[in-house]
Amino acid sequence: MPGLNPPAMWKGRFSQDTSSLVQQFGESISYDWRLFPHDIAGSIAHARAQKTLGLLTDDEFSQIESGLLEIKADIISGNFEFKTSLEDIHMNIEAELTKRIGPAGAKLHTARSRNDQVATDTRLYCRTGIDGLLLEITALQLALLDRAETYAATVIPGYTHLQRGQPVTAGHHFLAYVEMLERDKSRLGDCRKRLNISPLGSGALAGSTINLDRHAIAAELGFDGVTHNSMDAIADRDYIAELLFVVSLCGAHLSRLSEDLILWCTAEFGFASLSDAHTTGSSLMPQKKNPDVCELTRGKTGRLVGNLMNLLVALKGLPLTYNRDLQEDKPPLFDSVDTLRLILAVNTEMISAMKLREDKCRAAAADPMLLATDLADYLVKTGVPFRHAHELVGKAVAQAIATKTPLDQLDLAAIDPAYGPDAKDVFSLERALESRSNPGAPSIANVRAEIARWNALLQQG
Ligand code: ARG
Repeated sequence: MPGLNPPAMWKGRFSQDTSSLVQQFGESISYDWRLFPHDIAGSIAHARAQKTLGLLTDDEFSQIESGLLEIKADIISGNFEFKTSLEDIHMNIEAELTKRIGPAGAKLHTARSRNDQVATDTRLYCRTGIDGLLLEITALQLALLDRAETYAATVIPGYTHLQRGQPVTAGHHFLAYVEMLERDKSRLGDCRKRLNISPLGSGALAGSTINLDRHAIAAELGFDGVTHNSMDAIADRDYIAELLFVVSLCGAHLSRLSEDLILWCTAEFGFASLSDAHTTGSSLMPQKKNPDVCELTRGKTGRLVGNLMNLLVALKGLPLTYNRDLQEDKPPLFDSVDTLRLILAVNTEMISAMKLREDKCRAAAADPMLLATDLADYLVKTGVPFRHAHELVGKAVAQAIATKTPLDQLDLAAIDPAYGPDAKDVFSLERALESRSNPGAPSIANVRAEIARWNALLQQG
């Protein structure tokens, strides 16, 4: 395999060329080019601190700054050629800067290593990624809230074990997902807070003999402070693991929502219908309308969890500090952030256009069995101990099934004298919902109050 010259940044001690297979194996530019805005911001802050210390003249700093900004503009407009031989984004930018501005460019890497550089860039990328995700999650919450508002009073069965349990409203069901997404946002916020400290100045692993003003660099980059241990700062990828976990959990929430909607769109349930724009047909079966967005959300969540595992396994055996294995942190990170953003955007669109089939919801909710617990509660209110009440209602249920009589049509008093003449009143769905009025329960008034609470919370951003 013919070799290629090692990059100028580290060729000094080498007399042989790097095997081109090794270059192909070791490059990260094919994916870490995306760090360029952060790499450039980091380099400008670093150069400014060098100027403060008198390591760069004003003129040299200006050349570096404008050179880097020009490179940024060229990358954005597609006029920059990334070279695999220069391995990663850091060396591609530095080499091009030196090519463009000469000797001043060669001073930039003073008191810095690619190790603290990549840690800085990655933290900045995560911070930007989190800010984007927070907005996308809020957009999905608003779409769910809008559906909750439309179907605030639409009664459906609530399920446990996928068996009909008790009545709820569709609004209450949608708001459950708004809650989950709010926790995801809070976790993203925690993660953002923890990662927002600057590792720059940690050097390769042991700081530098040239003491740049780390606090000034951190402030320029919008960090809240600086890391306290250079070795930890270089080896730390906790913030990526945390972000990948939060992204996985958010994916898991949306995968559960997908599963609900897949069920609701079946002929068997029939509760929901998705728009033509968000479903696909079958090339063979003309009648099909498939909820592919939901299925792909469920499927892609597997990838999100896989990305988290990928990083944790890469980290677990690494001695301090930097090891090249760490370069493998970025493909799962980028993939998870991109994938979740797409999942959020497409789900927001799909949910906004989703309709419920209220006739089907009503028919399912009319099942009197949904009020079996309410019947037991009725007996409790007349003084029957709950366990006994449970058994009595169980007997009524068995009789309803055996005699093919709806539960609300049985002669309850004939089953047990504990059932008074008003026992039948239990079978009013309206009353049943209305009495579920404790905080967190699904009475329509509660659901409307929750919608108002969420509207105020989410509109204020
Ligand atoms: N491309 C490398 C990465 O992403 C940059 C750091 C390289 N550092 C080194 N000592 N080889 O991790």
